[in-house]
Amino acid sequence: MQKILVVDDAELNREFLNDILEDDYLVEMREDGEAALKFLEQYGGETAAVLLDLHMPKKDGLEVMMEMEQTGWMDGIPVLIISSEYAAEVESRCLELGAFDFIHKPFDSSIVKNRVKNAIELFAHKNQLEQKVEEQEVMLRKQDRIIRIQAEKLKEAEPFNRLMMEYQAAIMEIETRLKVLNAEFSQEYNRNPFESIKSRLKTPASIYEKLERKGYPVTVDSIRENLKDVAGIRVICSFPDDIYRLAALLNKQDDIILLRKKDYIQNPKPNGYRSLHLILNVPIFLSKEKKYMMAEVQFRTIAMDFWASLEHKLKYKKHVNDTDEIVRRLKLCADSIEDLDYQMQELRDKIDLSKEHVDVEAV
Ligand code: GTP
Ligand code: MG
Repeated sequence: MQKILVVDDAELNREFLNDILEDDYLVEMREDGEAALKFLEQYGGETAAVLLDLHMPKKDGLEVMMEMEQTGWMDGIPVLIISSEYAAEVESRCLELGAFDFIHKPFDSSIVKNRVKNAIELFAHKNQLEQKVEEQEVMLRKQDRIIRIQAEKLKEAEPFNRLMMEYQAAIMEIETRLKVLNAEFSQEYNRNPFESIKSRLKTPASIYEKLERKGYPVTVDSIRENLKDVAGIRVICSFPDDIYRLAALLNKQDDIILLRKKDYIQNPKPNGYRSLHLILNVPIFLSKEKKYMMAEVQFRTIAMDFWASLEHKLKYKKHVNDTDEIVRRLKLCADSIEDLDYQMQELRDKIDLSKEHVDVEAV
């Protein structure tokens, strides 16, 4: 049941109104203006209507309305004046202050009921509309903000696209250098130090997400300064020693600068992840300048690459059953892979040795 407040210093009036309204509402009664305001302070938000006498001790009805205006309650709660034939100017003052209606004495129960009911329904409707308008305003403000952000972004789009082109150039530069090494090895030693290369440019969404997550500003300069893996090159090798050989050869090139090395083969991650990561500065040659770009090169074996793509899936799937068991078994697989990779390498060495023997005999 909705709460309504009856404020009147005459007990008889309070009782009459209570009798009329108590079947439909939770009727709260107060004897003076001050007590009424105290009640509203606490329960204003749950009060559906106020029936208010004008002549009362402490604070009169007009003062109550003036204070209700200041706290905003006049807008949200209908006030019905309990009137005993007040002068026209008093009624007009009440209307000025925002009174919604008048309940005249002697009280007629059906008129009182209907006036209170109408007032409550109308205000509920009005409040609902106001809330809708407010919600729409919030939405409009949000849309406005999004449009402004997009406009800002658009302004940046050209430098962003330019930066992405430069990262793409860095990827091409490193890929070419690796391919040259592979071709040379193939020619000289009849073998390839890597099986394949997979490259990727970090997507705008992923760039945005990483900058936000790490608390960096979302600007083109900030991408250049703070993200080391916008240009990503993954080199998949057959054998562990190829990884170190290739990394060393790349590093030795006199215009490549090694910024950071993370050797997760010597120091595997607790989950079993093994790879060699190099963060490099590589020069790109543009029409007007030579520029150094940062790139992340990951070297790993074929088997470890297979493992990492499965493990990566586990990380990004939200609901996987038996996660602990899968993590435990992935770790066992990673350890077996290491064992297998080194066994294969040993076998390769043995085969290579005997091949040399045969070759020598053939001569
Ligand atoms: P990011 O913020 O993710 O770049 O990590 P980081 O800056 O600490 O560098 P880290 O060398 O640990 O990882 C760089 C990248 O290596 C990752 O983005 C992944 O592509 C890969 N990587 C690192 N650890 C793992 C791992 O445990 N599992 C798999 N599948 N990939 C990994
Ligand atoms: Mg990364």
